[in-house]
Amino acid sequence: MRTLGKLIVALVVFFVVLQVVRPSIPAKPATAEVQVPPEVRQLLEKDSYSCHSDQRRLSWFDEIVPGYWLVRHDILTAREHLNFFTLGSAPAAMQKATLYEAVNMIQLGAMPLPKFVRLHPEAKVTPDELGTLKAYLAPWTPAPNPMPSAQPGSGGKIDALAPASLAMVQPELNGFPFDPSFESWKPISTTDRGDNHTFRFILGNDVAVKAAQTGKISPWPDGARFAKIAWQQEPGPDGLVHPGKFVQVELMLKNARDYKDTEGWGWGRWRGADLKPYGKDAHFVNECTGCHQPLRGIDYVYTIPITTAKVRGDEVVNNAGAALPASLPYQPLGWNAITMYVDPKTHTTAALYGNDAAMHAVHARGAGRTEGPAYPAGAVLALVTWAQRDDPHWFGARIPDRPQAVEFVQVAGGGQQGSYQRFAGVGLTADQGAAAAQRTNFVLGLAPAWLP
Ligand code: HEC
Repeated sequence: MRTLGKLIVALVVFFVVLQVVRPSIPAKPATAEVQVPPEVRQLLEKDSYSCHSDQRRLSWFDEIVPGYWLVRHDILTAREHLNFFTLGSAPAAMQKATLYEAVNMIQLGAMPLPKFVRLHPEAKVTPDELGTLKAYLAPWTPAPNPMPSAQPGSGGKIDALAPASLAMVQPELNGFPFDPSFESWKPISTTDRGDNHTFRFILGNDVAVKAAQTGKISPWPDGARFAKIAWQQEPGPDGLVHPGKFVQVELMLKNARDYKDTEGWGWGRWRGADLKPYGKDAHFVNECTGCHQPLRGIDYVYTIPITTAKVRGDEVVNNAGAALPASLPYQPLGWNAITMYVDPKTHTTAALYGNDAAMHAVHARGAGRTEGPAYPAGAVLALVTWAQRDDPHWFGARIPDRPQAVEFVQVAGGGQQGSYQRFAGVGLTADQGAAAAQRTNFVLGLAPAWLP
């Protein structure tokens, strides 16, 4: 009994002495606080400033070592990623993009950290507060006016920016290799990212496409690869918004064993027309896994593939509503994608697909593409138009909803005008739309989105 008593006293003394081991959590006034209206600022202060500012705001129980050490580590990590006291020095667009990310992390339940909210229930973001943040960010501002672009989506000319060859692109800083074959992968979906004025094509290799078609995507099989290609949005003289300057391509490769330290996926991002590996060092990958983390329940993948396959949680991991009926003469979603655009007046998005003969002409393109390539006889093009809906995974993104029309143009040989077919309405039935000649010219004239 006496030894037990001594042990308890020793433990208490040890605990008290431990309290002195207390590296500091620096606090200082804001140098450049994020620029937002007062109601948004108030809300950020309540829900985010404890960790994402230079304020020091600990509850009494956070001060107790060893819990204090963990709290300190979390706060310093959080500030490094996002600090509302210095964010104000970033360009306005960057501040907004950061807030979009914050809204999405809140919406996906990743922020504030669930373990933090358990101890600090007052930091929980209420649906009303989330609404205030969204209302501040929405409605999306229209894409900025056409910038003098070096790469034609709808204008400009190409300089000597293109890399010598895709095969020479350097691996990522974590060693993850570039895959020059990505341009031939098949489209899984598209997104219209109003939060940063970009369009994205999400392509998958054969393994990924087969998995999407059969619904075996939870988890995705080893060997599945994704490419996400981003272009700046560029409003054209035709009133439509087209892909303009190429921004980057990102790749993911599933291999549960090889990439077990990065959630079972390899990650890489190559920026600009010269496809420069992104990041300062191999730690860039924490950005990728950090932002994809909230989707761990569906294997870290944001994209909702367009497929009719039955998948658990339909319409969350499967955009069946956007699929095309089997009754069409061709299945263009199995072809390659050439370009996309958005019509801001009708809130529709369209993507142009080509069969192999058409893609041959696209790949044989030269510099300065401001119009459609010279498609050979036998080329078939399909323009699919969808209504848009908000992306349930990312506030600020829109994805294809119900298809509204599919138009096919078959190119004939010998100077003959090709044939035009249109399918529209519920169930996409044949509808000999007026203005066939005009639509044929429109479809043939769409410039392919620029690729390195
Ligand atoms: C700020 C959040 C964020 C960060 C950081 C991020 N992603 Fe993503 N990623 C998304 C969203 C959202 C999508 C869905 C498509 C879209 O709308 O752009 C996505 C989709 C993708 C896709 C298509 C497959 C899928 O999951 O939908 C790839 C490939 C991808 N990201 C790679 C990367 C790589 C590589 C990095 C790191 C260099 C990265 N991402 C960092 C948010 C992020």
